Amino acid sequence: MISVITSLTFLLYWTSVLAGENVVTQNPSVAWHLKGETAEMKCSHNKGVAYSQMYWYRQRQGESMEHIVYTRTSSEPEFGSVDKNKFSTVKEIAANGSLTVKDVDTEDSAVYFCAVREHSVTELLHC
Ligand SMILES: *[C@@H]1O[C@H](CO)[C@@H](O)[C@H](O)[C@H]1NC(C)=O
Repeated sequence: MISVITSLTFLLYWTSVLAGENVVTQNPSVAWHLKGETAEMKCSHNKGVAYSQMYWYRQRQGESMEHIVYTRTSSEPEFGSVDKNKFSTVKEIAANGSLTVKDVDTEDSAVYFCAVREHSVTELLHC
């Protein structure tokens, strides 16, 4: 069985959206994985060292967006209501981070989003 993971660039930070700046990039943009494989997605930005918080979301087809995990350079990842064993993260520097989906299966088929946030900003996005 083949499952699909698709990731897209997502501009979450609202001032960036208003300014139309494409400063958050996500790689790969589309990835196909065989069942059982590990899928790593990388996200990077050039918004500066203050943007040290990174969020990962997924949206399965026909479903609403789900928060997967919140990562910071300074502390452990905080997972949402997802299976923690399914994911691992890397967040060593402000400029980038990665999300790995382990043991890919059909239910992992989704659009994955990454978002960055400045540490001093308290209000952001309601999904
Ligand atoms: C983040 O950037 C550093 C420096 O360019 C690089 O060595 C590292 O592999 C990158 N990590 C990710 C997860 O993209």
